[in-house]
Amino acid sequence: MNTTPWLIPRLGVNIDHIATLRQLRGTPYPDLLEAAALVKKAGAHQITIHLREDRRHIQDADVIALRKKGGLPLNLECALAPSMLKIALKVKPDWVCLVPERRQEVTTEGGLDVKKYRARIKKAIADFKKKGIRVSLFIEPDAAVVRLSKELGADAVEIHTGKYCNATQKFYGKNSAKIEKEEFRRLESAIRAGREVGIHLHAGHGFDFRNVRKIAALDVIEEFNIGHAIVCRAALVGLEQAVREMISAIHAP
Ligand code: PXP
Repeated sequence: MNTTPWLIPRLGVNIDHIATLRQLRGTPYPDLLEAAALVKKAGAHQITIHLREDRRHIQDADVIALRKKGGLPLNLECALAPSMLKIALKVKPDWVCLVPERRQEVTTEGGLDVKKYRARIKKAIADFKKKGIRVSLFIEPDAAVVRLSKELGADAVEIHTGKYCNATQKFYGKNSAKIEKEEFRRLESAIRAGREVGIHLHAGHGFDFRNVRKIAALDVIEEFNIGHAIVCRAALVGLEQAVREMISAIHAP
């Protein structure tokens, strides 16, 4: 599969969980623009956020602030609901990633049902394109869905890697190794279809610092959108500094 070994993939950092920390207490911190500036300083290529219908983490004001002052291209994940599409059209992010959304889910479970919602998706893509917004569809690693996404006019598919990544983390107990193999095969087949039809290939969900390597080594994914693992790692690598700052605040008030 190693056909484009020169490919340097982009990293979109999903900062939803920085907002989750803020929303837990309703504090003015952590500041999302400060987070975006650090993401940029570290060399990432894009800020990714999901404005959920229940507003559990990212708020409308965050979307506007990040669009205006985020300093990086913005990838806005949004559900197919008319109210969300309206916001996305108004905000005009660089990319919209259409995702399925269920209120009770902990995180985005599964890919968009492109077949069932094909008419609505086609219309949404056309509306976004008219405004110069590029569109990706967050889909299961399924070759037929990749082809259909191209047919509907999507610029890219973001392949949902959640099941593969969960399996690498032994989420499925003794079935994990088998599921990991199956899911990897599904990913390969979706990627092959993507290259055949000529659609940009993005990937996201569940990546950690270990499991992302095998997918990156395929040299075909142009963009990775990663959030949870980065925010978790940041909590650990930043903890020492944060404790020092608090000790300084109480020792030298
Ligand atoms: N891409 C999409 C479309 C998502 O919905 C999410 C989760 O919000 C991510 C990427 C990032 O997933 P994770 O937080 O597991 O890295």
